[in-house]
Amino acid sequence: MKILPATTVDAEPILALQKLAYASEARLYDDDALPPLTQTLEQMRIDLERQVVLKAVIDDAIVGSVRAQTRDEVCHIGRLIVHPTLQGRGIGTRLMTAIEARFATAPRYELFTGERSARNLRLYERLGYHRQRVAALDARTTVVFLDKPGQPGPVLETERLILRPMRPDDFDGLWKIFLDPNVAAAFGVQPFDHAQMSDWLGRNLTHQAEHGWGLFTVVLKTEGEVIGDCGLEVMALDDGSVAELGYDLRSAFWGRGLATEAACAVRDFALGPAGQTRLISLIRAGNDASRRVAEKVGLRLQTTITRWGVPYWRYGLEA
Ligand SMILES: CC(C)(COP(=O)(O)OP(=O)(O)OC[C@H]1O[C@@H](n2cnc3c(N)ncnc32)[C@H](O)[C@@H]1OP(=O)(O)O)[C@@H](O)C(=O)NCCC(=O)NCCS
Repeated sequence: MKILPATTVDAEPILALQKLAYASEARLYDDDALPPLTQTLEQMRIDLERQVVLKAVIDDAIVGSVRAQTRDEVCHIGRLIVHPTLQGRGIGTRLMTAIEARFATAPRYELFTGERSARNLRLYERLGYHRQRVAALDARTTVVFLDKPGQPGPVLETERLILRPMRPDDFDGLWKIFLDPNVAAAFGVQPFDHAQMSDWLGRNLTHQAEHGWGLFTVVLKTEGEVIGDCGLEVMALDDGSVAELGYDLRSAFWGRGLATEAACAVRDFALGPAGQTRLISLIRAGNDASRRVAEKVGLRLQTTITRWGVPYWRYGLEA
C-alpha cells in the first residue's frame, strides 16, 4: 500500500469510496443526509484543489483517503475513509500519521466524528485525540469534536521523507525499529524490551525539550509510517560538546538510500538553523552500512575511540 497526494483526477473514485465508507454511518444514525453522502463531484473537486488530500492505493485502486487544511492555525482533518472490506488493518492509522506529518508544524489538530461511532472514537483516542465538545450536525446526528496538540518544531522534508519532532505517541512505531533483530545486531545488543524503549524515548524527548531539536521521527511519505529515527544528540567529548548525527531504520527499508537522504537533511539543518559548526558520528567499528552513510553525508574518519569497552569509528565534519 502507498499513500500519495490526491489530485482532481481522483475526485470520482474518492467520492465513490466516501459514499461506500459512510454507508455504515448513515445506517447508524438513520440519516441519509450526512454531508459526506450528499457531497457533489464539483464540491469534491474543490476540496481536492483547496485541501491536502491523501489517498491510500493498493494495486492502482484507491482504498482510503483523508483530507486536511489549516484555518486559524489549527489543522482541521476530515473525511478519513477506508474501504469497508479493508477496515481494521491499520490503513486508517497510517493515513492519520501521514496527514499529521504533512501538517507537522500545526500547533493543534482538530477533527470530529459521530457521537455513536465508537470505532472511530477509539481510533482517534488511541492516536492521542481528546474529546472537546459535542454539536448537533442536523436533527438526527450529533458529532463529537476531538483535538490533539501539535508539537511545533523543526520539520525537515526530503523527496521521500518527513522528519518531524519525536512525540510520546511514536512509541510503538519507534519500538519496531529497536525490536528489529537486524538493527539490534548492528548495535551488538538484544532487541529492546519495553523498559529500554521507554528510557530511549524519554531521553530523546528530554533532549528535544532542552535543545529544541534531537532525533527526529522519520516518516516515509508513501507509507505514512514511522520507519526510523535520524537526528542529533549533543555529546560531551574531551574537546568540548558536539552534536552527534545518528540514524536507524527498520531493516525492511534499508538499501534504498533513505538513511543518506535523511542524514543529508539533518546535516544541513545542523550546520544551518541549529547553528552547529561541526558534527560527528560514532559508529561501532565494523558497521559498514553506517560508515558508508557517514561518508556519503560528507563525514570523514577522524579516529577510533573506545567507549564502554567497545571500539568506535569517530567520523566528523567541520563546517
Ligand atoms: C545504517 C543504516 C541506517 C543505513 O540505512 P540505509 O537506508 O540502508 O542506508 P543507505 O541506503 O542510504 O546507504 C547504505 C550504504 O551502505 C552500503 N552498505 C550496506 N551494507 C553494507 C555492508 N555490509 N558493507 C558495506 N557497505 C554496505 C550500501 O551499499 C550503501 O552505500 P552505496 O550507496 O554506496 O551503495 C541501516 O543499516 C540501519 O538502520 N542499521 C541499524 C542501525 C545502525 O547501525 N545505525 C547507525 C548507528 S551508528
